[in-house]
Amino acid sequence: MKKLYGVIGDPVAHSMSPIMHNDLFQLYSVDATYVAFHVKPENLQDAVKGFRAINLAGLSVTVPHKQMIMPLLDEIDPLAEAIGAVNTVVNDHGRLIGYNTDGSGYLEGLKKEVPSFMDKNMLLIGAGGAARAIYYTLAQAGVKKVDIANRTVEKAEYLVNNCPFPKNSEVLSFKEAEEQLAKYDVIVQTTSIGMHPDIEASPLSVEKLKSTSLVSDIIYSPLETKILREAKQKGARIQNGIPMFTYQGALQFEKWTGIFPDMDRMQSVCLKQLGGKSC
Ligand code: ATR
Repeated sequence: MKKLYGVIGDPVAHSMSPIMHNDLFQLYSVDATYVAFHVKPENLQDAVKGFRAINLAGLSVTVPHKQMIMPLLDEIDPLAEAIGAVNTVVNDHGRLIGYNTDGSGYLEGLKKEVPSFMDKNMLLIGAGGAARAIYYTLAQAGVKKVDIANRTVEKAEYLVNNCPFPKNSEVLSFKEAEEQLAKYDVIVQTTSIGMHPDIEASPLSVEKLKSTSLVSDIIYSPLETKILREAKQKGARIQNGIPMFTYQGALQFEKWTGIFPDMDRMQSVCLKQLGGKSC
């Protein structure tokens, strides 16, 4: 019987996940289909009950359900538990198991650009949900130094103090981060600043950026945010949000099917959707 997978979110209409996963099901001849389910927060509990009733094979979970779905599942993977958010559900013979592939998706994309990432000095901009997934995954992987800059410094301090993995981190204001930017090899922008439609916004000046650094932004709309554009002008390497998005999807696909998919294919499917040429 054909298996059913889906993404739940509110809103969810613009999700690229259905196109990406359905393309992979076809490519690998998996008898399955993937649909978008618009689920409002007040209906989440009933939706999960319904998914159990119809034996849904797996789920992608997006905003605003990543935390709220956790108590509705049967088991949570330790990294997802530490992050406090689930973006992937696997139906293992009726048991719904929650995982988080956001941070590991980011890490896979980073490994391609910076194979020696473990010894690098990293700066994370932002301290929200996306930053938490990336920070905890980097700390779990044992990255040497990851500092955090955030508008609300207390939120960054909370993130560091609650990280269950060994870490070596300082918390900075945006101003302090701007002044010390030359000491970082990898800078990861995780806030929504610069996202469409507010594309002329940037969290901080890259005046002091080294030309040997990588600036990575998890935003993919636009494909080149203002901070990436300015980093490129300084001669630095840049990476947009397509690698993180496609790798988090690839890791989901692998959990559901056991197949690690063709990343070039996934990236070109997403870029086609976004109307871009490169990532
Ligand atoms: P997500 O789950 O997508 O990471 P979030 O949890 O709402 O979203 O976190 C948003 C992040 O973007 C936070 O780091 C937030 O900074 P604060 O902690 O100070 O709120 C940051 N952010 C969003 N809009 C911002 C803005 N206009 N200026 C500065 N930081 C902003």
